[in-house]
Amino acid sequence: MPELNTLTLDRAVVSTILDPYVIQRGTPQDPQLSVEIQKLRNRWKKRRWQRRLLGWLPHGRSLPPMLRGARNQEYVFESYSTTWETQGWPNPEEPIQPKQTSLVEWGHEIIKVRRGGLSRVHLYYMADVIGALQPRSILEVGCGNGLNLFVLASKFPDIPMHGVELTEKGVATAKSVQQSQPFPEALVKFCPWEVGNLEAWRKIEFRQGDARALPFPDSSFDLVFTRLALEQMETLRDEAVSEISRVSKKHVMFLEPFFEFNQDDLRRNYVGAKDYFSLPHAELKKFGIQVLMTYKDFPQKLTLGAGLVLGKV
Ligand SMILES: C[S@@+](CC[C@H](N)C(=O)[O-])C[C@H]1O[C@@H](n2cnc3c(N)ncnc32)[C@H](O)[C@@H]1O
Repeated sequence: MPELNTLTLDRAVVSTILDPYVIQRGTPQDPQLSVEIQKLRNRWKKRRWQRRLLGWLPHGRSLPPMLRGARNQEYVFESYSTTWETQGWPNPEEPIQPKQTSLVEWGHEIIKVRRGGLSRVHLYYMADVIGALQPRSILEVGCGNGLNLFVLASKFPDIPMHGVELTEKGVATAKSVQQSQPFPEALVKFCPWEVGNLEAWRKIEFRQGDARALPFPDSSFDLVFTRLALEQMETLRDEAVSEISRVSKKHVMFLEPFFEFNQDDLRRNYVGAKDYFSLPHAELKKFGIQVLMTYKDFPQKLTLGAGLVLGKV
């Protein structure tokens, strides 16, 4: 079993995983990219000020983004219900949709990447951590349409996996895929490894539920994880992290935009303007979680940094 603290991402491996999703590569000095970066800086500085002044407004989807108030769970529920009803699996061959691309920094490079590229890299690293921990059961909280669990089940077919998701649409999508198809070809292509097992994904148990009151007894799972789900839960973060800690028997793994990963101006403004999760991982101990390791050497969005935090309960 590899030592957790020695798990790092090899640059060549990251390139291979990311490559199909790369639209453009450059440096911050390239004229066109530098203009785009400056625009991002200006936009999110302005939007953060708007949020400070108008944060008391409701966060109705019908309002233009600049007039929306604090992100609340009604808004999250509505917007992700639409997402999981309409959005297909990541597909590097579909036409580029500007809203689904991100500017990412990786070493000295700036890379424009499609939806799916970063999650592939995250999943590759998360699988390394799971391989080192060898849990006997796993729960993902905020599992959306099940993408992460489907991919992980193809690598760890013997570990029972469960997913909880706020929206009925996310759960319905995950369950309908399980019932009606062979393992989708799009997911075989998306997996950042050779898919060895095409059956385990059918056994994953998905259910609708709220991170504020997870529908499981204490200490139910060896490993409970989230990926960019606490991100949406700033208004309920203490309840959600307490619940995750409660239902874990051994470990918790968060791949989230913790405060420490978002310390430059652009990211601070973005997190503030969008009301994203911003708990310092140093505060996890108040939820009974002892941090064993943190890892942030991923290609990172210029607007929102995310890192992996592994804890023991
Ligand atoms: C950005 S998506 C991430 C989905 C998935 N984890 C991934 O990596 O693709 C955030 C998800 O968290 C879910 N979520 C937000 N608040 C939640 C809550 N209180 N309980 C459970 N899930 C929640 C949303 O519905 C959405 O599916």
